[in-house]
Amino acid sequence: MKQSLAINGGPKTIDKKFPWPILDETDVQVVTDITRSGLWGNPNCDDRVKLLEDEFASFCGTKYGLSCVNGSVALRLALIACGVRPGDEVIVPPYTFIATASIVLEANCVPVFVDIEPDTYNIDPSGIEKAITPRTKAIIPVHFAGQACDMDRIMAIAKKHSLTVIEDACHGHGAEYKNRKLGSIGDAGCFSFQSSKNLTSGEGGMIVTNDEALFDMMNSLRNVGRIKGGQWYEHYNLGCNYRITQLQAVLLSNQLKRLDEQTRRRHANGTYLNSLLEEINGIKPLARDRGETLHSYHIYIFRYDKSEFNDLPKAKFAEALAAEGVPCFMGYPQPLYKQPLFQEKNFMCYAIPEEVDYSGVKCPVTEKACYEEAVWIMQHAMLGTRDDMMKFAGAITKIQKAVKE
Ligand SMILES: Cc1ncc(COP(=O)(O)O)c(C=O)c1O
Repeated sequence: MKQSLAINGGPKTIDKKFPWPILDETDVQVVTDITRSGLWGNPNCDDRVKLLEDEFASFCGTKYGLSCVNGSVALRLALIACGVRPGDEVIVPPYTFIATASIVLEANCVPVFVDIEPDTYNIDPSGIEKAITPRTKAIIPVHFAGQACDMDRIMAIAKKHSLTVIEDACHGHGAEYKNRKLGSIGDAGCFSFQSSKNLTSGEGGMIVTNDEALFDMMNSLRNVGRIKGGQWYEHYNLGCNYRITQLQAVLLSNQLKRLDEQTRRRHANGTYLNSLLEEINGIKPLARDRGETLHSYHIYIFRYDKSEFNDLPKAKFAEALAAEGVPCFMGYPQPLYKQPLFQEKNFMCYAIPEEVDYSGVKCPVTEKACYEEAVWIMQHAMLGTRDDMMKFAGAITKIQKAVKE
């Protein structure tokens, strides 16, 4: 590669910091106020956690919101509360964070991997139909990167086969499918507030639902098995303490005020960047117009074709692009089912049927995405300006020119 590239000591295409999270004095103030009030709440509003839950539910257009310690636990509580039994099968994509599938094992159920679509990287609804067996109980579609899954088709399949749908919306805060907020379409929708996420308190999670019985059960599981109307030291269900703190709640409530504007900014930048990258040979943005009316771009993903870059491997290309100052990364190195957890069946004490075996699983689209194609630009960079987007595209063109010369 040429000297002019930043990776070889040349000048960066863009030399700018993209801070995350974006915090201001009002965040400091709410944390200070709650700390001064003794962390139990403040005189005007006793329970800031409940307030946050109501605000988030109303933001999503659902009846209920239930906070918990993280997105993984949100998924786990939702799955257990929907009534799965040991050995039941749950359909998940293999191009996602480990928690989407590992929480299924933690519920003594069997994750069944269904490949993603080549142009959106979301779970392929036609693959879901084919994977359904008499043991299938639930589907966990992941709105990957903040792009809505094909929810009309997924909900129709679920209805036909009486399956529960738990939306993994951990990348999808504020994003929409046909003008409905992600997380509000299935039986339950789960969010993460971990530090990289589009809404964050360092760690944290939330489940939204319209189903009162499901909400009550999830609430009980989150709260050491207590039930509505029960006594403090009465425990009806096998739960644990998965509650968040008032400190997290005030920080999230304050940041929720900015979420819509930030989501719209990322959406506009993502749409613009698509138009720029479409013009570069060997770079393809993911497809849009599958019903997503607002994309949260927790990740901006594009597809890389090394044949247009003098066969430069994807990992090397992503390194060169990062050196140019674009906050990017090669994404997941392998599909989930290739992880030692699945290949070596390191299922600990969980009661997973003996015959479960992931050694023969093959999802070609996910493998291509991991090994050859997908490059991720992180969400905080998508809060930049149009000029930044032009520079991101310019950095790609610069690398292409250098490797071809
Ligand atoms: C798609 C997806 N699902 C679930 C989770 C789990 O969230 P948490 O890290 O808050 O447990 C993550 C976190 O990165 C995620 O990316």
